[in-house]
Amino acid sequence: MNIPFNKPSLTGNEFEYIQDTISIGQISGDGKYTKKCSSLLGVELGVKKALLTTSCTHALEMAAILLDIQPGDEVIVPSFTFVSTVNAFVLRGAKPVFIDIRPDTLNMDENQLEGLITEKTMAIIPVHYAGVGCEMGIIMNIANKYDIPVIEDNAHGLFGKYKDRYLGTFGTFATQSFHETKNFSCGEGGALLINDKNYIERAEIIREKGTNRSRFSRGEIDKYSWVDIGSSYLPSDILAAVLYAQLEKRELIQAKRKKIWKHYNEKLDAWVNENDIRLPIIPEYCDQPYHMFYLLMPTLEKRNLFIQHLKKNGIMAVFHYLPLHLSEMGKNFGGKIGNCPVTENISDRLVRLPFYNDLDIETLDFNCFYDF
Ligand SMILES: Cc1ncc(COP(=O)(O)O)c(C=O)c1O
Repeated sequence: MNIPFNKPSLTGNEFEYIQDTISIGQISGDGKYTKKCSSLLGVELGVKKALLTTSCTHALEMAAILLDIQPGDEVIVPSFTFVSTVNAFVLRGAKPVFIDIRPDTLNMDENQLEGLITEKTMAIIPVHYAGVGCEMGIIMNIANKYDIPVIEDNAHGLFGKYKDRYLGTFGTFATQSFHETKNFSCGEGGALLINDKNYIERAEIIREKGTNRSRFSRGEIDKYSWVDIGSSYLPSDILAAVLYAQLEKRELIQAKRKKIWKHYNEKLDAWVNENDIRLPIIPEYCDQPYHMFYLLMPTLEKRNLFIQHLKKNGIMAVFHYLPLHLSEMGKNFGGKIGNCPVTENISDRLVRLPFYNDLDIETLDFNCFYDF
């Protein structure tokens, strides 16, 4: 077997749309396919505005600028996440306050949230791990009680739902990733979802190098100029063409991924029970987007041996986030062993199995799992 962890796949119209955008003559940002992606996301999810960005990292950076995060402000973030969830705010001078995760969904432990809020808390950033929704009812109640904006890092969770409502529609902002490992991808890409219309105009300006060029492009003003801080956060229309080809086939992609996830779940069910291994836990009120399939091994040692064992059999499995509070940067912010015990434990034991749209799961020989 030779099964990589991830592999890019084509869904159908990618090359046709790339050719189309080139023949139209606008391959810079905000061309035909960027508009199509934004409008599809906006309408499908029901958000006030969806702006395509060059990455989820950049969408998070835009959110931090939009909230005017200042040096000394605090943001509450899980330690069990990708660097960018935190770094985007640290770039503005914020201090991360790390919150531990729940042992079941591996999402922010909402029961610890209120205890971490101070007068300096300027944002709460839940991460929907593997696209399984955080406890948004409780999180939003606490955030509203203290009037603190929520930014959902929904890098994994496009089209996932919490209690019948799309992830990405709860917070003031949400951020999406279209990096190559995601369900829908253009290599590198992202989106900022905006649920409060008061932020739309400034978001367009920040995304366009601090200029009001978006208004100029719509014919609302006759020249554009520098009006705020900003950067270049808009992707080429070539990338948007690739992304649109995938987004328009979202039902097909999600169906393929559902099949893979269910197959893993069924084939591994008996084996995990006999070996003190845990499968993902999905609360019945969460519709997951089938982004990831992971196992929780009994120990760090077993996890590492298991990754080696699969590798010998041609299957590339990988671990995931290292606790951010124990990273070099995290320690500079006072992070210490024992601050987030569930994160520390889960991070050692988690292994992600190969997962991509064209994975032919029925040809995967599960005997090498059962042999371990
Ligand atoms: C939770 C989370 N947030 C943000 C990112 C960053 O995404 P991007 O690579 O699009 O910047 C990732 C990366 O996979 C992630 O897992």
